[in-house]
Parts: sequence; structure tokens; C-alpha cells
Amino acid sequence: MRIRLASLFILATLPTLLLLSGCSRQQEESTKAQQSPAEQPAEPPADPQAGKALAAQRCASCHGEEGLSTAPQYPHLAGQSADYIVKALKAYQSGERQSPEMKTATEGLSETDMRNLAAYFSQQQLPVGAGLPEAERGQPFEDVDPLALGQQKSAACGGCHGADGNSAIPGTPSLAALGDEYLVLATHAYKGGMRENDVMKGMVAALSDDDIDLIASYYALQVRKPRPGGDGDKVIGEQLSAACTSCHGEHGNSKDPKTPSLAGQDAQYLVVAITAYQQGKRKHEVMQGAVKELSEAEVRNLATYFSHMEPAPPTARKPMNVSELVERCNRCHGEDGRGLEANPAFPRIGGQSEAYLVKALNAYHSEVRKNRFMEAMSAPLKGWQIKLLARYYAGK
Ligand code: HEC
Ligand code: HEC
Ligand code: HEC
Ligand code: HEC
Repeated sequence: MRIRLASLFILATLPTLLLLSGCSRQQEESTKAQQSPAEQPAEPPADPQAGKALAAQRCASCHGEEGLSTAPQYPHLAGQSADYIVKALKAYQSGERQSPEMKTATEGLSETDMRNLAAYFSQQQLPVGAGLPEAERGQPFEDVDPLALGQQKSAACGGCHGADGNSAIPGTPSLAALGDEYLVLATHAYKGGMRENDVMKGMVAALSDDDIDLIASYYALQVRKPRPGGDGDKVIGEQLSAACTSCHGEHGNSKDPKTPSLAGQDAQYLVVAITAYQQGKRKHEVMQGAVKELSEAEVRNLATYFSHMEPAPPTARKPMNVSELVERCNRCHGEDGRGLEANPAFPRIGGQSEAYLVKALNAYHSEVRKNRFMEAMSAPLKGWQIKLLARYYAGK
């Protein structure tokens, strides 16, 4: 079908071309048409030479004469799919994709200009590893084992919380099998001072967001050991716990990664935590409301009951390493992210600037940049995964 359209196109334009520009020009045009059959036969084939001239005036200061960008925040255009470039230019021009630089750059560009620019840039060569500084190209990419890395980063926590997140110190919570999202929230709450505790504030002060994510994934996947204790009445505690089940799960085993499991938690810690909500030292409207009417004895009964409950196995999912992620990305972006011929609207990402890849993935993740495929793909990604993916593809 494509070939037939292309030959029809050549037949239709042949006489005009012969008349206008003579034989050699016609041969050039007809080879081009065979190589990339025009999708809409009504339009003339794109003219990369015109694109080159326009690019030198309007694009080169940021994207380089040949599509090799002049600074990491500007994406390379060399070797990018032409269809994708046209799509991107239209999106900037209409404001659907936001970028002040590109809004200016696309002002007044016609569809033909865009196709010419796209044809030119798509034909330029992108060197292997072009997304990385020259000194860093060609080095083998080292994947990480997220859990091993999280364990390593949690070394300083083990003294109190236990190496596997099962603390043996009364008053210190076990972290094993807490939801990963809850662990992240709680750690940030100490770091930002929303949850007041001098020891914990000091412990987490130096952790980066990536460290916090990795440590949380590690603890969330550890098996929690029961810590039965407390001096309350667990039978009365069980009756009272009916008011907690909707959020904290059956027997205190939460299924929501943002709500902490209470099953098998240290009773002394549970008393401190509930009291902190009651006194307003720990702020959380929902929880403050849930426990405000409880008497001191009821709090102890609840703590004793939950500490005796059998903890459920961890429900968190192991975060994927780069090799596992790349397998999925390549289904749309092709081997080494070099693009798929079958799907020219999917951009090439291999060899793209590392800083730009990070920015693009974050933009999808935060839904600033709209695309249903990429929003879905980037939603579960952690910051460290985004950085490693960018590093990986930039080096291809
Ligand atoms: C002042 C600097 C600047 C100039 C000049 C400029 N661009 Fe850009 N361009 C950018 C920046 C910054 C981005 C990334 C914006 C974003 O994050 O979406 C970009 C992105 C793009 C993209 C999207 C690439 C991708 O991988 O999604 C295309 C295509 C593009 N530019 C083409 C052009 C063309 C064609 C011209 C000339 C007509 C041009 N640009 C001129 C700065 C510039
Ligand atoms: C010196 C002992 C100590 C060390 C070391 C320590 N913690 Fe803690 N941690 C505590 C205590 C005590 C609490 C309870 C504080 C409170 O009542 O808010 C706590 C609470 C927590 C909580 C809240 C748990 C929950 O169920 O809400 C998290 C998360 C946490 N720590 C993470 C860490 C991480 C990560 C590290 C290592 C970087 C660490 N802690 C190191 C003593 C420690
Ligand atoms: C509407 C949902 C909801 C209900 C009902 C609820 N909780 Fe909570 N609970 C939460 C959430 C969410 C948090 C985490 C709050 C935070 O980040 O401080 C929490 C935290 C806690 C904590 C702190 C755990 C830790 O590891 O630090 C304790 C203890 C607790 N709840 C006990 C109870 C008890 C006991 C009841 C029943 C009387 C109850 N909750 C009812 C949602 C609820
Ligand atoms: C189901 C197909 C599909 C999968 C799987 C997929 N992508 Fe994409 N990706 C797309 C499409 C389509 C676009 C272009 C969207 C647009 O126009 O904004 C895109 C755009 C991108 C961009 C922006 C490129 C640029 O030049 O601005 C990056 C970066 C990216 N994808 C990375 C990834 C990574 C990393 C993965 C794996 C975690 C992945 N993609 C998985 C389809 C996919």
C-alpha cells in the first residue's frame, strides 16, 4: 500500500519536476520519495536543505547546527524521528507542551517549515553515548540491586530499628513490613520537623530523597516478627479495634501503603504514638479524631491487642532495577532506545542528553507533560530509577 502510494506520487509529480528543475533534481526527489513515502500524497516531500537553512537561523544556538545540542538542558535532535519532531513542534506552537524557549522558536513556523526541519534533523548522525559528557562515554553501565542498596543505606538505622527492621528496643518501632509510602512520609515528617523527635530528626537529616526511597523499599519488604507485650487487656483491645479496621486492616495488617500496620508493633511505642496524637504533638487530623475519645486504659488495651497480632507478610512490591525497566521501555522505544521503525511517533531516547531525559521523565511523572503512555509508565518510578534510566539511555 505504502509503495503503491509512493509510486503514484512519483508518477503524479514527475512531469512537473522535470519541467521545473531538470533531470538530476527529479532523480533526487524520486529516490527520496521511495525511501520515505509521504503519508499524505497531496503534500510535497520535505526538503531537508530548506530545513538546514532554517535550522541554522533559528535552532542552532540551542540545538547545534547538526542537532547536537550546545548544553545538556537542550535535547539533541540529530537522529530523532521526523514524525516525532513535527508532533513536538506542533505541541509547542499550540501551547499543549510548555516551554518558553520553544514557544518563541516555533512562532510563525508553517507545517512545511516543520517538516523540512524534521527531515533535516532526523537525517543527522547521533554519536553513540551522545547523552553523556565525552569523558564518560563508553563506560559500562552498572545496574543496582535496589534492596541491597537500601540495606546498605540503612546501616545507621539498624542499631535501634534492627538490621532487618525488627527492633528489640521497647519504645522503638519496628519498621519491617510498614508500607513503603508510609515509611517515606514518616521519614520526611521527621526531616521537615512536622513530626517532632530530636533523635530521629538527627538520624535522617543527611538522607537524600533517593536514600529515603531506597531505605523505605528495603524495610517495607522485610518480614515483620511479632512483638507481643503490653500490660493492657487484649480482649477489650480487640473490641475497641473495630473502629480502626477500616484503615489499619484486619488485626492491624494494613493493605494501604500509606497507612501503617499495627500488627506485631511494639506496645510501648503504640501507646506513645496514640498519646502523641491525643495531645496534638503528632499532627494528623484523621488519626487525632480516631483516638481523641480513648481513655488511658483503652489506649493500653489497644496497644496490647495489636502487639499480639500476627504480622502479615510484606505487601510492597520489589522496585525494578534498570534492566527490568528497560525491557519495558524498549518495547516502545526500540533496542537501546533507538526508536522503532514501526512506530515513528515514538521518540528515540538512546543517546539523548541525560539532564533532558531526567527532566522529561519528571515532567511525565508529575503530569506536567501529558501523554497517556508515558504518564502510566512514569507514575510508579522513583527518583533514583529516573536518574538511572536517564544515565542508561544517555549512554546508548
Ligand atoms: C533558546 C533555545 C532553543 C531554541 C532556539 C530552540 N529550541 Fe528546541 N528546545 C529547547 C528546549 C529548552 C527544549 C526542551 C523543552 C522541554 O522540556 O519540553 C527544546 C525541545 C525541542 C524539541 C523536543 C525534543 C524532544 O525530544 O522532545 C524539538 C523537536 C525542538 N526543540 C526543535 C527545535 C527547532 C526545530 C528549533 C528551531 C526552529 C528549536 N527547537 C529552537 C530550546 C531551544
Ligand atoms: C538512636 C535510635 C534510632 C536510630 C539510630 C534511628 N531511629 Fe528511627 N526511630 C527511633 C525512635 C525512638 C522512633 C520513635 C519516635 C517517635 O515516637 O516519633 C523512631 C521512629 C522512626 C520511624 C517512624 C516509624 C513509625 O512507625 O511511624 C521511622 C520511619 C524511622 N524511625 C526511620 C529511621 C531511619 C530511616 C533511620 C536511619 C537513617 C533511623 N530511624 C534511625 C529511634 C532511632
Ligand atoms: C480513617 C483512617 C484511620 C482510622 C479509622 C484509624 N487510623 Fe490510625 N492511622 C491512620 C493513618 C493515615 C496513620 C498515619 C498518620 C501519620 O502519618 O501520622 C495512622 C497512624 C496510626 C498510628 C501510628 C503508627 C506508627 O507506626 O507510628 C497508630 C498507633 C494508630 N494509627 C492507631 C489507630 C487506632 C488505635 C485506631 C482506632 C482506634 C486508628 N488508628 C484508627 C489512619 C486511621
Ligand atoms: C507504551 C509505549 C511506551 C512505553 C512502554 C514507554 N514509552 Fe516513553 N514514550 C512513548 C511515547 C508515545 C512518547 C512520546 C510522548 C509525547 O509526545 O510526549 C514517549 C516519550 C518518552 C520520553 C520523552 C522523549 C523526548 O525526547 O522528549 C522519554 C524520556 C521516555 N519516553 C522514556 C521512557 C522510559 C524510560 C520508559 C520505560 C520506563 C518508557 N519511555 C516507556 C511511549 C512509551
